[in-house]
Amino acid sequence: MKTQVAIIGAGPSGLLLGHLLRAEGVDCVVLERQTGDYVLSRIRAGVLEQITVSLMERLGLDARMKAEGLPHDGFNLADGERLIRIDIAGLTGKQVMVYGQTELTRDLMEASEARGLEVVYSASDLALHDVESDAPYVTYTKDGAEHRVDARFIVGCDGFHGPSRKSIPASVSTEFEKVYPFGWLGILSDVPPCNHELIYANHERGFALASQRSHTRSRYYVDVPLTEKIEDWSDDRIWDELAVRLGPEAAANITRGPSIEKSIAPLRSYIFAPMRFGSLLLCGDAAHIVPPTGAKGLNLAASDVHYAAEALTGFFARNAPDSIIAYSDKALARVWKAERFSWSLTKLMHRFPEDGPFERAMQVAELDYISSSRAAQTAIAENYVGLPA
Ligand code: APR
Ligand code: PHB
Repeated sequence: MKTQVAIIGAGPSGLLLGHLLRAEGVDCVVLERQTGDYVLSRIRAGVLEQITVSLMERLGLDARMKAEGLPHDGFNLADGERLIRIDIAGLTGKQVMVYGQTELTRDLMEASEARGLEVVYSASDLALHDVESDAPYVTYTKDGAEHRVDARFIVGCDGFHGPSRKSIPASVSTEFEKVYPFGWLGILSDVPPCNHELIYANHERGFALASQRSHTRSRYYVDVPLTEKIEDWSDDRIWDELAVRLGPEAAANITRGPSIEKSIAPLRSYIFAPMRFGSLLLCGDAAHIVPPTGAKGLNLAASDVHYAAEALTGFFARNAPDSIIAYSDKALARVWKAERFSWSLTKLMHRFPEDGPFERAMQVAELDYISSSRAAQTAIAENYVGLPA
């Protein structure tokens, strides 16, 4: 098979890119290792920036998001006693959309057939070949048969563990990484949220986040040492911990219920540069990971995809080959800023085991400054809502 762009991975990055390319008349195929059901079973964050919402609008795939998503004008930082509200709408004129990433992936998946986007699921043993040349190709196995896709470009949208990034030689690339000494234990439950907006809390017992998927489904997190086992966390233990860490105001409004999902995810900051080598471009988690504080993961994937679609349509539709060369620098400029914000919000809102009284006093001083400074709140709000692409 021959195509213009072979996309590896049918997560949000790969599907969004496929749709954007098809909308511009560029030929592409998406190759995914798992089944569609498996892809939709992954539980992910649920705050969309304006850029992500606009891409779905541009594709005309925003109907369900507009009907079921919850636009939020602000969010809160809690420091054990009080809530510091960040008025995103008042400070930036923008909103964020609370809509599960899994739902966005489902919308993209369900529209693929009607939009002529070919997605091959259950493609195993995928390998990339000749990515440094102008004639790269991908091989994979499906139903016991070997397949080969020749393309002008390959885009790696295959997440942190996929094979794409590994086909860029170490001699031309650099990895930047910070691993945090804790993970987030998340619980999903069909109960009304404790607050109409999100609350990120820094309590002496640790971090907590009150989030939501809808008016009847809540998503909460507490941070735990990486040595903790999920089996040791009964639903009651998690609810007790949340009630303490989120502070008395939120605790009074928590509705408890059985968990429908419960897991621990480690936190990491990771950037791989460059994001292009020869005819291979990387998008989303294949190139970078952010800690979930600030919910930048999917939104950063969406901005990469926006730049990649622009570069590829520039190449194929507008005879602008230089657009491909510009991709990595353009994408990385935004990636670094989102990485910085996610890292700084993580540092501000978590108790690190190595922190002493000085570091703690710095957190208190910073939260106090934020609570009293419109400039500080504006800086947080404009990063949270998403920097311009
Ligand atoms: N062959 C084909 N597909 C693969 C392979 C492979 N060898 N390896 C991985 N994949 C697929 C995975 O099965 C997955 O469906 O690539 C897809 C990558 O999807 P994600 O991990 O969701 O990454 P991405 O689409 O970049 O989305 C980024 O997801 O992890 C969150 O926080 C992150 O919100 C961010 C978003
Ligand atoms: C979530 O709803 O899962 C969520 C929200 C905000 C975050 C991270 C996760 O920063």
